[in-house]
Amino acid sequence: MAKPRSSFICQNCGAVAPRWQGKCEACNEWNSLVEEAPSAGIGAVAARGARKGRVFALEGLTGEAKAPPRLLSGLAELDRVTGGGFVPGSVLLIGGEPGIGKSTLLIQACALLARRGERVVYISGEEAAAQVRLRAERLGLADAPVELAAETSVEDIIATLSAGRRPALVVIDSIQTMWTETAEATPGTVTQVRCAAQALIRFAKLSGACVILVGHVTKDGQIAGPRVVEHMVDAVASFEGDGSHHFRILRNVKNRFGPTDEIGVFEMTGVGLSEVANPSALFLAGRDGSASGAAVFAGMEGTRPVLVEIQALVAPSALGTPRRAVVGWDPNRLSMLVAVLETHGRVRLGQHDIYLNVAGGVKISEPAADLAAAAALVSSLTGAVLPQDMVFFGEVGLSGAIRPAPHANLRLKEAAKLGFSRAVAPPGPQEGETSSRNTGAALRPIRHIGEAIADIAALGRGAPAPRAARAAG
Ligand code: TYD
Ligand code: MG
Repeated sequence: MAKPRSSFICQNCGAVAPRWQGKCEACNEWNSLVEEAPSAGIGAVAARGARKGRVFALEGLTGEAKAPPRLLSGLAELDRVTGGGFVPGSVLLIGGEPGIGKSTLLIQACALLARRGERVVYISGEEAAAQVRLRAERLGLADAPVELAAETSVEDIIATLSAGRRPALVVIDSIQTMWTETAEATPGTVTQVRCAAQALIRFAKLSGACVILVGHVTKDGQIAGPRVVEHMVDAVASFEGDGSHHFRILRNVKNRFGPTDEIGVFEMTGVGLSEVANPSALFLAGRDGSASGAAVFAGMEGTRPVLVEIQALVAPSALGTPRRAVVGWDPNRLSMLVAVLETHGRVRLGQHDIYLNVAGGVKISEPAADLAAAAALVSSLTGAVLPQDMVFFGEVGLSGAIRPAPHANLRLKEAAKLGFSRAVAPPGPQEGETSSRNTGAALRPIRHIGEAIADIAALGRGAPAPRAARAAG
């Protein structure tokens, strides 16, 4: 038999290479390959001689299917993201950049559950128990009967958890610090993370405890190491936010027990994370309604309408190839929108630098943001200030046609709730209903991008803006 050769595993994406390379060919990450012994990986047990398989009974699809019982954390925003509470026996991975507040969020959830009499265990592989206790004290949660430990050995952790009452919730902070004896690789490597996660997942399934794994994310947004466990766990949520803003968004990436497009919004305060029940008001706070280049988008995050401001700056370019910079939106969508505005709206943007920003560090992925982005671009180009009480939504097609967005009614109602009385949007099936009942903002139905541009240009002509002379068209 040939001598088993060690393999080189990318710590970013988990790809295996036969020899060391400076750059991983699968994910293009530099310096991410680490040598791992042949006895460490998958197939190692088979090589040592595996036992014969046992025959088990197979079941049909018909039969009793019960909705899983839920364990509510008591933090409504967290429960919204998990789809109505943690599912016993499931594993949830929470990823986020270091310092974003993962440990804070989880110790708060743990304390709330423990106060209700559940057995809750918090295992920290990064901080000493005293540090965790100090934080809990600061948050006013020191009285909660959470069981704490600073441990990194998965075998010891599972032995401890298996002794005594079944825990309802176990938090492992973080999965990168865990190591298991079943793998011979060094702690922190992909193999270790994968094996440690596997052991913890098996524990969750067997015991019925809900296990939360914390994973750190590298700055390019990928969960380093734990990215390879994403497919193994039942749900993945990412905790986002940016340093200059106080609010944090918990976003669902995968959920086997609920919808995946829900977000939870929190605000980082001096005493921990507090829930934000009305995110639109927070995102729109500090808005300067008298400047051109800003449009309010009536968006949806999961089942909840959320209003955000889209800001654009269009300036004549000194460069051969004008600059396009986007924060919080898809740059490809901006290119597409610019092309549609040029072709179907005769808005000349080819010689202009374009900067587009979603205010407050929010990230938008909905196509319905197209119309608001277009309005902000045209407003900035023409110098026309958009009315303060107007919101926009609708997807712009390549033909310039505006396509209806789902949940138009909810968007209009949320807009009205926040003091917006007019909405520019495509006519939807709900059009008649809203205008007759008059529950939301009044809809100005438009069918083509040209209509929106004409409207904004008319606003510009009305205002004595210095740049109005360069109006669209
Ligand atoms: P932490 O939960 O330790 O982040 P993570 O586990 O994701 O690495 O959060 C650390 C940050 O949160 C730290 O920069 C300080 C801030 N913070 C507050 O602003 N208020 C608080 O009450 C707490 C506990 C932390
Ligand atoms: Mg932490």
